[in-house]
Amino acid sequence: MKNNFSNLFKGFSKLNLSERLQSLMEAGVLSSEEANYLKSGGLKDSGLGEKFVENVVGYFQLPMGIATNFQIDGEDYFIPMAVEETSIVAAASKTAKWVRESGSIKTEVVGKNIIGQVQFAKVKNPEQFKKDVLSQKQYLIDLANREVAFGLVARGGGVTDITVRFVDREEESASFMGVVHVLLDPVDAMGANIINQVCEFLKDHLQSLTGEKVTMCILSNLVDTKITRAEINIQNIDSDLAEKIQEASLFAELDPYRAATNNKGVLNGIDPILIATGNDWRAVEAGLHAYAAQSGRYKSITKWRKTGANELHGIFEAPLIVGTVGGVTTLHPTAKIAMKMMGIQNSSHLSRICAAVGLTQNLGALKALTTVGIIEGHMKLHIKNLSLGAGAKDEEMPQLQKRLEEILQLRKRISLSNAIEVLKELRATRL
Ligand code: MEV
Repeated sequence: MKNNFSNLFKGFSKLNLSERLQSLMEAGVLSSEEANYLKSGGLKDSGLGEKFVENVVGYFQLPMGIATNFQIDGEDYFIPMAVEETSIVAAASKTAKWVRESGSIKTEVVGKNIIGQVQFAKVKNPEQFKKDVLSQKQYLIDLANREVAFGLVARGGGVTDITVRFVDREEESASFMGVVHVLLDPVDAMGANIINQVCEFLKDHLQSLTGEKVTMCILSNLVDTKITRAEINIQNIDSDLAEKIQEASLFAELDPYRAATNNKGVLNGIDPILIATGNDWRAVEAGLHAYAAQSGRYKSITKWRKTGANELHGIFEAPLIVGTVGGVTTLHPTAKIAMKMMGIQNSSHLSRICAAVGLTQNLGALKALTTVGIIEGHMKLHIKNLSLGAGAKDEEMPQLQKRLEEILQLRKRISLSNAIEVLKELRATRL
């Protein structure tokens, strides 16, 4: 039975915190204990932090908001997003509502292997080196699976392939850099530890097999062997808007300066989910950017095309390597709640959700940028932060925000000094 939260999505943003938690309990995505844990401020036990990092002095708390209206592959989701930037959660929910009403989101993961690299800085005899490694490939795979990755093998994964590459040393054409790629299916783990262990384990065997010297072993974050795709189709879109979104997309496909900002907007949708679920967002970021530059020029990670008079099609494609077992994901109580909230079944499922939200976030940004512009779409919500930054008290907020919105409308610009100035004026008139 697929989740259908359409009634609970309605008016969610108008609820107060207790009512929102109540709504999530009604949806069956939170228990009363989990709701109480979140309401009382989440994790406080510094002992857990000591298990993760060194020299712990406390926690850094980020707000976790819930993006609503998401229907991904026909299933409704409340999406937990841990992020500091105003408007991301609101924009995701608003755009997801549009997609829900006028289109659909489909996702898939293609491939299953992650990559480990064993570097041979200077290979004396490249041809022989390649022959030696490849002729013993199955032996090495079986050995690594038997001695190191046996836990993964039991779960249906493990080392699946070994390949050899040569990297151009550029400055020294006489010698070759050899790289052995170890491909491994990590099942539901992110796989960083196990792939590194497998590579370290194979190091001595590869050295004695080839007579060449290993320099280092480490995973690669450019996992072009496991790609997550999301697609959005929108019907009944205003023809002019579809045209503008296509032009905005072309801008990001052709110009690396724009591509960087476009991709940052996509990551606005992805990173907050990675953080909320305790995943390594730096690894995902590195992989995504490297993939975006794979053609030799840094490009947008999304592409939008007008596919009919009133139709728009968008696609996101990149490696999104996440884990759903082990590490922070299974130890941090908030991460566990975030996973449960989305009913995550396995790592591919989580990757698909991230891709869907990233592409939706991108659509929202492109729509805002090609219509009302970033000031209206972004800064309006930023006014709340400016008001807080200026030191407004709770009771002063509504009046100050109203006045700042008027200034924004008038001047198309707003800053913290405006907020400080207006707050001063408001306080003076009350005296
Ligand atoms: C701001 O956080 C994100 C945007 O700059 C993304 C974009 O330009 O596509 C609005």
